[in-house]
Amino acid sequence: MVIFQGKTEKGLEVIIRYPKREDAQILRHYINTLSKERTYILFQGEQLSLREEKKYLNSVIKQINKNEAIILLVFHKDQLIAETDIKMQLRSENHVGAFGISVAKDYRSQGVGKLLMDLVIKEAKINLKKLKIIRLGVFANNFIAQKMYQQFGFIKYGNLPKGFLRRGQYVDHVYMYKNI
Ligand SMILES: CC(C)(COP(=O)(O)OP(=O)(O)OC[C@H]1O[C@@H](n2cnc3c(N)ncnc32)[C@H](O)[C@@H]1OP(=O)(O)O)[C@@H](O)C(=O)NCCC(=O)NCCS
Repeated sequence: MVIFQGKTEKGLEVIIRYPKREDAQILRHYINTLSKERTYILFQGEQLSLREEKKYLNSVIKQINKNEAIILLVFHKDQLIAETDIKMQLRSENHVGAFGISVAKDYRSQGVGKLLMDLVIKEAKINLKKLKIIRLGVFANNFIAQKMYQQFGFIKYGNLPKGFLRRGQYVDHVYMYKNI
């Protein structure tokens, strides 16, 4: 389902939609490329097989269909250039959604992140009925992402010293949340 077609604030033409089962290969290529970059994400060089990606995609599509997750993909000229997700947590945390976002290297700082955050929060408010809190984790030295999260009203609530290992160095894990 397409939820946005048009330009970002900075003029990049994009189409934003939910994932389909047929997206496994392009998603795999996307995450494996980001992983090789060792940017500020959990994947730090690990590569996913097509089988693993299909398994992941099948399970998240089920979550989306049960209104337990939102996943949005951004395309520019048929190329996958960004992804975001909010996944509801379980049991006594079932009012909490965990948030993630990434934009492909060549497409950063062109307004994709802001547009995507705005849309995923709007979609979450409509579809994730129990959602009260969105939480996220970010590398302490990822100033661009933290600035963007602050712009969207996220507040820092914790810090795990040396909670991430990136490019051979320990970095603090900063926790942020936003009430819905
Ligand atoms: C963090 C990330 C998602 C932001 O997406 P983006 O498309 O680059 O961001 P946008 O162009 O929409 O800019 C959003 C805000 O981020 C900040 N920002 C973006 N690029 C910036 C830059 N080069 N320098 C300083 N701030 C910048 C600004 O606050 C900007 O808002 P503004 O334009 O109103 O000033 C993206 O850079 C990314 O995927 N980085 C690598 C992976 C990552 O860090 N993921 C987040 C894990 S927690």
